[in-house]
Amino acid sequence: MLLSQLLHVHGIDSVVLERKTKDYVLGRIRAGVLEQVFVDLMAQAGVADRLHAEGFEHNGTLIAYEDDSFRVDFRAQTGTPVVVYGQTEVTRDLYAAREAAGGNLIFNTEDVAIHGAETDAPYVTFTVDGQEQRIDADFVAGCDGFHGISRQTIPLNIRREYEKIYPFGWLGILSETPPVHHELIYASSARGFALCSMRNENLSRYYIQCSLSDSPEDWTDAAFWTELKRRIPAQFADSLVTGPSVEKSIAPLRSFVTEPMRWGRLFLCGDAAHIVPPTGAKGLNTAASDVHYLLNALRDYYENGSDQGIDAYSQNALARIWKAERFSWWFTSLLHRFPYQSEFDLKMQRAEIDFLRSNDAAQKAMAENYVGLPY
Ligand code: PHB
Repeated sequence: MLLSQLLHVHGIDSVVLERKTKDYVLGRIRAGVLEQVFVDLMAQAGVADRLHAEGFEHNGTLIAYEDDSFRVDFRAQTGTPVVVYGQTEVTRDLYAAREAAGGNLIFNTEDVAIHGAETDAPYVTFTVDGQEQRIDADFVAGCDGFHGISRQTIPLNIRREYEKIYPFGWLGILSETPPVHHELIYASSARGFALCSMRNENLSRYYIQCSLSDSPEDWTDAAFWTELKRRIPAQFADSLVTGPSVEKSIAPLRSFVTEPMRWGRLFLCGDAAHIVPPTGAKGLNTAASDVHYLLNALRDYYENGSDQGIDAYSQNALARIWKAERFSWWFTSLLHRFPYQSEFDLKMQRAEIDFLRSNDAAQKAMAENYVGLPY
């Protein structure tokens, strides 16, 4: 949606195919921390008014361990805050803008297939309302997520995949309660990781590391709150306002990258090409970084008749993606309990947290990655 809106702003037509309905997409809860470069892209796309009005700038975050915590000051370290604004709201704003501009969005598409990606005349076929349709295009942007068909369209002898599966999940709840703290709290505890996040003054998002064999129904709201309180410092546990959950779900954690991100006239963007574990909230932000490189590549093609940007897309996008992968993997490894962790492993984790607490250069490195590396 962001790519489509940006292309529109730069006079390039696109058609968006969506497998689900609009209501389904707008009903999903996703992370809510935006890098400044993402906010800038939304402004370039002309869709940042509500984001500017309703988003919350966060100048730092708390890292908690056992009963202690310290703050990493993003603003002091990097000059930049992050913005808390739900991904679902980003999508809502983009739908509104595309619809207002008469954008071509086709929902409920089935049996999508990409043809001729390695030729100069690619086309996409799909079914909607039982009718087979075909769209001929100059380029195809595969923004269809980890389970989409775009990545699978690239032949196996060309594609290389890198993957790490983490042996735990995140159980998340959304509750109409005031956040326990005005900034996020990333907490490491002997019972596992916990995260206190938010959407606004009366909407909180909390997560706890859970077993992959758990299902949301195993966790009553009361059990969730009890476990969360055990994993955060007492000062926060004591002031935590609990209430009924309005959403509860479990997400597995995975690091994944596929190379290359371009095959002929097909470009992979976002989850179609890479996945990060949610620690650090890089999922949407890495998708936006791909959009930035692809937009520039396509503008170079249409405005200057040059293939240079297109040829460099995969390399440029991947250079930044791998750094976000490294950060998300590091932040996940720092704060979670892993099965089979030895006493030595635990000491290493603790030493790393102590180093981060006491070392300005370490905090600067963490902050630079958290607020988003430059494009
Ligand atoms: C969220 O608010 O959903 C959230 C925030 C930070 C993360 C992950 C998720 O690292």
